[in-house]
Amino acid sequence: MSERLEDIAAKMMAPGKGLLAADESTGTIKKRFDSIGVENSEDNRRAYREMLFRTDAAMRDHISGVILFEETLYQKAADGTHLAELISAAGAVPGIKVDKGAKALAGYHGETVTEGLDGLRERLDTYYDAGARFAKWRAVIAISDTLPTRYAIHANAHALARYAVLCQEQGIVPIVEPEILMDGAPGDHSIDRCAQVTEAVLTEVFAELHEARCLLEGMVLKPNMVIDGQNARKASVDEVAEKTVTALKRTVPGAVAGIAFLSGGQSDEEATAHLSAMNAMGDLPWPLTFSYGRALQAAALAAWGGKAENVGAGQQAFAHRARMNGLAASGQWSREQEAA
Ligand code: 13P
Repeated sequence: MSERLEDIAAKMMAPGKGLLAADESTGTIKKRFDSIGVENSEDNRRAYREMLFRTDAAMRDHISGVILFEETLYQKAADGTHLAELISAAGAVPGIKVDKGAKALAGYHGETVTEGLDGLRERLDTYYDAGARFAKWRAVIAISDTLPTRYAIHANAHALARYAVLCQEQGIVPIVEPEILMDGAPGDHSIDRCAQVTEAVLTEVFAELHEARCLLEGMVLKPNMVIDGQNARKASVDEVAEKTVTALKRTVPGAVAGIAFLSGGQSDEEATAHLSAMNAMGDLPWPLTFSYGRALQAAALAAWGGKAENVGAGQQAFAHRARMNGLAASGQWSREQEAA
């Protein structure tokens, strides 16, 4: 018998653990590899991700699940083991990015809608057979004085909801990710503008999820934090934590299984500090954890540099970030531990 959605979601939100977003598309991982001068070959992608998934200290103790790109779900380690099996063997849940990317929204300059609904039921069935028990769909919301438009919010919320219930029908927990960009152009918005847009977007997303008959206990929300744009950084850690929790409490039903943030261009330490400060506030209706891509991987990627002899150093860097974020998921991170 298949597992209950609620039980998978609870495993993803296990205390002191969070998600590793390693689902960079072939184009996005190319940008990461370019930054360290590594060729974007299938074998290099395999070697890099195998290094992460074989970091036992991180995977067993601090990572509850890993989001994979389709290629990785079917890829094998150097010794022939499926990479998804490495993840399961460490006690984490394998998941899969199922959207086909954010595409220009016709008639709405500067905005996007995420595609990938056609044929999704059949793809989810195949992914389930390959071991995936949760999925991710990322909607991208532009922010400025005049954006987003009501139409872009609605189109993206509608697609997220249709995706979510298709996942649940196939026994897969949906991660619902409406990302308001921190690092998009122009990126000079204030934290209060981010709060306003975040509340409007989440309100629409949960209205659509309700209409679509989504089981809230069997889904995970992956939101941005309420934060100022990359070209307007000034809010303190406490202000980000307080404004993020306020926006979420106003818009996210308490029945939702959990919330796992994206890092969105924050530095490693900022992303950790913000999460810890929110959890330290206490009295939250849902578990709050991380689902970081860059903020979990940047140090490991740099330490590895594409060289087999640096695998140990890459794993050490990943284990450190995973441990720091595990502490943050319990509200127990501190600058002293960061340095230790
Ligand atoms: P970042 O944490 O790098 O924003 O990536 C998370 C993610 O999965 C975005 O879709």
